[in-house]
This record gives sequence, structure tokens and C-alpha cells, in this order.
Amino acid sequence: MAVPVPGKKKRTTGVQDHPDNQGFRLDYPGKKSENVVLATPAGLYEPDSAYVGGENRLYHADNLGVLAALAHDESIAGKVKLVYIDPPFATDAAFESRKQRHAYDDHLVGPAFVEALRERLILIHHLLAEDGSLYLHLDERMTFNMRVILAEIFGEKNFRSFITRRKCNPKNYTRKTYGNVADYILYYSKTDTYVWNRPVEPWDDSRVAKEYQYVDDQGRRYKKVPVHAPGVRNGETGKPWHGKMPPPGKHWQFLPSTLDEMDARGEIYWSPTGNPRRKIYLENSAGVPLQNIWMDVRDAHNQNIHITGYPTEKNPELLARIIEASSNPGDLVMDCYAGSGTTLAVASSLGRHWIGVDRSDEAISAILHRLRHGTERMGDFVNGNTKTKSLPLFSISDFTLYHEVKEEDRSLVPAMDELSASGVLTSCSGSGRGRGRVSGGKHQGPEVDSDDPGG
Ligand SMILES: C[S@@+](CC[C@H](N)C(=O)[O-])C[C@H]1O[C@@H](n2cnc3c(N)ncnc32)[C@H](O)[C@@H]1O
Repeated sequence: MAVPVPGKKKRTTGVQDHPDNQGFRLDYPGKKSENVVLATPAGLYEPDSAYVGGENRLYHADNLGVLAALAHDESIAGKVKLVYIDPPFATDAAFESRKQRHAYDDHLVGPAFVEALRERLILIHHLLAEDGSLYLHLDERMTFNMRVILAEIFGEKNFRSFITRRKCNPKNYTRKTYGNVADYILYYSKTDTYVWNRPVEPWDDSRVAKEYQYVDDQGRRYKKVPVHAPGVRNGETGKPWHGKMPPPGKHWQFLPSTLDEMDARGEIYWSPTGNPRRKIYLENSAGVPLQNIWMDVRDAHNQNIHITGYPTEKNPELLARIIEASSNPGDLVMDCYAGSGTTLAVASSLGRHWIGVDRSDEAISAILHRLRHGTERMGDFVNGNTKTKSLPLFSISDFTLYHEVKEEDRSLVPAMDELSASGVLTSCSGSGRGRGRVSGGKHQGPEVDSDDPGG
């Protein structure tokens, strides 16, 4: 339960919170201190000889050990620009793919769920760049608990948005309550200086007609806005312009010299009573800034949408919106609950580098298939038509697939210096343990579709 924190000294668990958690924290048995979480043992990973390539990395492993390993990797820690995660939602259910193969279990609930996710979020916070961002996708079960946890880790001043998404079409609910068509995305940045490319929606005719009511003699649409702003100023912007003082309690938004220039360019409208207003032209607007209710990015909701068939896969347009808003081409994007690889595929198509992690065999199969063969129209899962596949995004040289080296096999992995000496270190290897080292490792691989040669 969320409890106000009376004062730092009275805390009993030794858990360190961000100083700006607004005095709230979530307490439950088994909550580890941040230092203990940051000391989580790193996993050890080796590349799959069939998929050794460029900078992008796909880990087939539990994400806790991977995140801990990446935290020691100087080429990654502090450099991840964007993390989007869509973990299990604490549904206490198991999920199957469209081909009725077991995909993943979602049986962690209550405090165990919160703590498992919190530990990953602490490591993610450590991996993020100073101008990086986190998007956490959940539903009504855990969003509110995790909002308190995120304030502990990121600080409430770094809370950016609480996005409500329409996830599906309305259903005929038999339950005695409102239909549930929403899920939620919590957006935090690591600091207050963060990558932000404002997303906009295109103007539609009815909106244009309402907002940009005027048309100039060249046929250009514009609206009129005040040239003053609240607050009294003693400098230039508080002085008369064209012999007029700003209205009481206000100041001019621009220096009188700038207002003169705007006037000379015809950007000031003078009312019949001599009051100035600024003309804002539609042609200079990039679009309507996006708000925090997203109705247009439902998951697979008609037969024409392309999917992998993995359960709970998200709409690529949702990911494109997030990736474009909070990263730039060339940046590193991570999804450590990758599922069918929506984040990875979209990041790649937008020119970002990526790290993906999933522990499910079925997820890794879906990702490999998606990267190499594209996705299929939802309707075609029913009638078996494969002619409408989307284009594949990758060749096997675009990413490296890493498997976890199990405890009992660790002695089989040669020491780092032996590997460097023998020259078998992969070209993308770095200094930390989290990066794969040797080629040709043995592992229990995911089931790869029969039409996928697996390299
Ligand atoms: C809701 S699905 C993600 C779906 C994904 N966003 C997509 O578009 O396909 C959650 C995924 O998290 C994975 N997962 C759950 N716990 C994990 C863990 N501890 N380590 C790695 N993967 C995990 C599951 O195997 C599952 O594929």
C-alpha cells in the first residue's frame, strides 16, 4: 500500500528512493534496497553461430541477468536513449500463439510482480542516457502501483505523461460494468533534458475551419491570437507600443522592435478600434500536437493488419510514434520484454539501433521469423494464404542472437583473454560480461519455423 513517508530517517527497509518521490513510497515484504538490486549478478551470454552480425543484439534469456550484464558494459550503460517495455500485466494467465503454441506465463501477481518489475526498472534507469526516456505499458491492474514505484526510481519531477490508449474494438461484455477498451503507458524521462520530437496529427477540414477562421487576400488561412501575455514587466515589453500600453496586468510578448518587424511583414492584424492581434498561419503549423489519449493505435483489430501471431503483440504504429518522439536516427532503443519484436522491427525501420530480450522460445522464434520473413495479414492465419507477407526487415548480418551460458556450462566458455588471444571474439564485443563472446556456442535454441533456414 502507498504510504506517505514522514521523513527519510524513519524508513526501515533501507530502500533508497529518488529524493523527489513526493513523499510517497510503496512498501511490501521482500522489497530490496536499490544497492542490492544494482549488485544483481550479471548473466553470461554467448552468440548463436547462426546469427552473428551487426550492432543490434537479441538476447534469449531472462532479462534480469541481461540488464545486470549490460550495466557493466561501458558501450551500453548510460547510452540507451529509449526503453519501451510491455511486460506481462499480472493477469495470472498463460498465453498461446495463434498456432496454439505456449508463448509465456503471466503468473506473477501482487507484490511479487511489483518487485520483479521494480528490479528491472532500477537497472533500466541505470542504463538510460541522461537524455533518455522510459515508456512502461501496463493495464489497470498494475499501472497505479507502478506509478508510485517509478516516482521512487525516476523522481516525480521526471514524470512526463500518462497515456491512455484505446487497445481494441468494443466487445459485448457480459460483466456488469463498463467495457474495458483502454490500457496505459507511463512515460518518464531520466532528467529534465530529454529527447523530444513533438508528435503531431494532421489537420482535418472541420478542425481547420474551427481554428483558422480567417483567409487573407492570398487565400492563406490564419487565426488571430493576442500579442500580450500575463504578468507586468518593467522593461521594454512593459512600455507603450504604437502609443498603446499592454492591457492591465499584462506585457507585450515581444520587444517593440520585433513587433514592428512583424507588423511590417503583415503579421499583425489591427482591429477597427486599434487593438493589435497576431496572425498565425496554418501553413506554418506542423499539425495538431498529439494529446495523451490515443484512439488510433489499437492492436490487431481487422483482418488486413500484419501480425506475427504472437499473443499480445502491439501495433507497430504505436511503437513508431513512441520511437520517433523520444529518439533520433542512430540512437539505441531497448525492449527487454520483446515478445514478437515489434519494438525491434520498428526501431530498425526508423534507423535506430536496438537491444531486445525475451526468455520465451516462442518469442525468439517469432522475432527471428519476423526479422527474416516479415509479418502476415491477420486474416491469412485463418486461411493459410502467405502471399501477402510484409517485407522482411533484416538479413542475418544485421543482429547477433545471444543465449545464456548456463551455470553448469560456464567452465566451457574460455576466459576472455584466451579468446582475445585466439581471435574468436566477435566484432561487436565490448568490455563487459553481458556481451556475447564466442561463436558456435551450444544451447537449447528456440524452435525456428521450418521455412526458416536458421542461417
Ligand atoms: C506482453 S509480451 C510483449 C509483447 C510485445 N510488446 C510485442 O509487441 O510483441 C511480454 C513478453 O515478456 C516476456 N517476459 C516476461 N518476463 C520476462 C523476463 N523476466 N525476461 C525476459 N522476458 C520476459 C514474455 O516471454 C513475453 O514475450
